[in-house]
Amino acid sequence: LTSAFGVAAARVMTCDPSVASGALSVIEEGVVVVDAGRIAYVGPRAGAPEGVSIEEFGERVVTPGLVDAHTHACWVGSRHAEYAARMKGDGYQAIARAGGGILATHRAVAAASEECLVQALVARLRRMASLGVTTVEVKSGYGLAAAHERKQLAAMARARDAPGVPAIVATLLALHALPPGVTDRAAFVARVAGAFVPSVAAEGLARFVDAYVDEDAFSVAEARAVAEAARASGLGVRLHVDQFADVQGAELAASLDAASADHLEHVSASGIAALARAQVVAVLLPVASFTLGQPPPPVAALREAGVRLAIASDSNPGTAPTESLTLAMALAVRLYALSPDEALLGVTRHASAALELRDRGVLRVGARADLVVWDLPHEHAIVQPWGVAKTLSVRVEGREIFRAAGS
Ligand code: NIG
Ligand code: FE
Repeated sequence: LTSAFGVAAARVMTCDPSVASGALSVIEEGVVVVDAGRIAYVGPRAGAPEGVSIEEFGERVVTPGLVDAHTHACWVGSRHAEYAARMKGDGYQAIARAGGGILATHRAVAAASEECLVQALVARLRRMASLGVTTVEVKSGYGLAAAHERKQLAAMARARDAPGVPAIVATLLALHALPPGVTDRAAFVARVAGAFVPSVAAEGLARFVDAYVDEDAFSVAEARAVAEAARASGLGVRLHVDQFADVQGAELAASLDAASADHLEHVSASGIAALARAQVVAVLLPVASFTLGQPPPPVAALREAGVRLAIASDSNPGTAPTESLTLAMALAVRLYALSPDEALLGVTRHASAALELRDRGVLRVGARADLVVWDLPHEHAIVQPWGVAKTLSVRVEGREIFRAAGS
């Protein structure tokens, strides 16, 4: 254990049932020892390896690094005027039909250089890191046309090398809106499925493919064609489903063995049963339903059916103008009636499952040393609506990507 170091605190939330009992498997007076980017020890102080320098955090809590499993963080521009119009009564879907919404951000992204996207993305990801996020899924989907979609994915790849950012999981949001000027939907979808998805996969630019399956968006048949192309190219599938209407998007996600089905405000009973059977993770996006003034998804029925619940920020300039996963947790508790334990699992173990990542979201020997020290005395305090960073130290593979000033 040459390069090893440790952190100690009154509470270490492991989320690993093999380490400790209780919903969050908390170790009291615990130590986490990190060696070469991995966890080498997690347990009581008494059992910690000797000769390792340990930083003492006292009456604080240590958790796995948070995983934000659904964001659209690669964008530029501003949609503040649309927000004001919506507060005066204009509808989100009506604004989109009139050429605003996704198309407004598309115009800004299409006009931006790759370098400009990298800068905006990196700045945003650093702010996310300061709030405790160590892995973030980022979707394309504002480029719409192949060249601009590729530019977004290239910006994500470059952002990985910047200091102070979480690990990035790139998703090609292949069907988000029709590019301006495209009138032949069928030909567009066929081109995306037949040519664009395979080439993105071959270039290693994305790990997942996503599609927006909803009324005024894409149909189940269109999304199925693109998702099957993703599968055939070795990529995973995650889907935006049933946000504005029940279009049987959840049933589609289940039939495709998708990693996640996201939104679900209008999911049907049969959709819930299908998600449970196929063990698809439900990604809840409470900032979006809060911003749109929508009622919550049927959380009690999802829970009852045994569907794992993840929570994500949905960070985007239209329906979720936030960068804060902790705000999403607070709203999941306040508006969706998740328990604090559910909210915490929703951004750790279950969020990792939603991204098909087995090496994080828990503090366990051998897992990545992605962890957060919170300036809070208990893990349940994390879900209160602070609106500010309550982190002291945030580490990715042992490397500190954020440290609170003066700590
Ligand atoms: O997840 N629902 C579609 N896509 C985004 C919103 C995108 C936008 O308005 O820019 C969402 O809510
Ligand atoms: Fe989204």
